[in-house]
Amino acid sequence: MSAPVTVDERLIQTLRESASTVFLTGAGVSAESGIPTFRDAMAGLWSQYRPEELATPEGFDRDPELVWRWYEWRRGIVSRTHPNAGHHALRKMQDCLTDPILVTQNVDGLHQRAGNEQTIELHGNLFRNLCSRDMHAVTAGQLIPGVPPRCTRCGSFIRPGVVWFGEMLPAEALERAREAARRCNVFFSIGTSSQVYPAAELAEIALGGGAIIVEVNPERTALTPYAEFVLSSPSGAALPEIARRLGSN
Ligand code: APR
Repeated sequence: MSAPVTVDERLIQTLRESASTVFLTGAGVSAESGIPTFRDAMAGLWSQYRPEELATPEGFDRDPELVWRWYEWRRGIVSRTHPNAGHHALRKMQDCLTDPILVTQNVDGLHQRAGNEQTIELHGNLFRNLCSRDMHAVTAGQLIPGVPPRCTRCGSFIRPGVVWFGEMLPAEALERAREAARRCNVFFSIGTSSQVYPAAELAEIALGGGAIIVEVNPERTALTPYAEFVLSSPSGAALPEIARRLGSN
């Protein structure tokens, strides 16, 4: 059981007065659901590989079967997990705030499973499949079985709908996230090392627009010095406390 979390009353007041609040989440929010962060996922059976060998277009071109099996392994892990208290608290907070916008770097879909259907997914979603030739989303009925499956329309390999190293983020999602960061009064950075761009740029955009930064992370990051409020606690403890205080008028 983690230590009780102290939430500054000024933060609660600031949230109540905020006309727009952005939440950016990273792998740390899902850690308490038992989902290894990206780099932890390279442990065990997969430790012989580097992320760059598996999560890149070159890695897929070199060995599509290996890459597909790795993602099937990750899908298996995620499908056996559940949203944690942090995901559920974020969902509850949406009901107490004006214009809340949730942006995630995670590909596990746990925010949606907690009820946040409008989540902006910057790095795609593990359970989405794309035709590797034209990058169009394909449904289960548009796959020819195989490892990896092939596209029924063009015969190309199917790939997971996640953003790989060296690839551009989905333009529409990134623009919506940047616009939200520009407009917001409060910007939460939750469970992210704030190291990976362009997602890490969102906090800078928010700061530039005069937003107050709130960081929820047991560890310090490059963003910590710029945060008005720092909750050095796991998100599964900090977020429910904020939701409780927001809900108790
Ligand atoms: N609650 C809050 N934060 C946590 C928790 C927790 N329970 N556990 C760990 N953290 C923090 C860690 O201190 C770290 O700062 O979560 C952060 C996870 O950082 P990363 O593993 O770098 O994950 P993330 O920031 O989401 O990475 C961004 O890089 O790996 C690629 O594409 C991948 O989307 C990912 C992107």
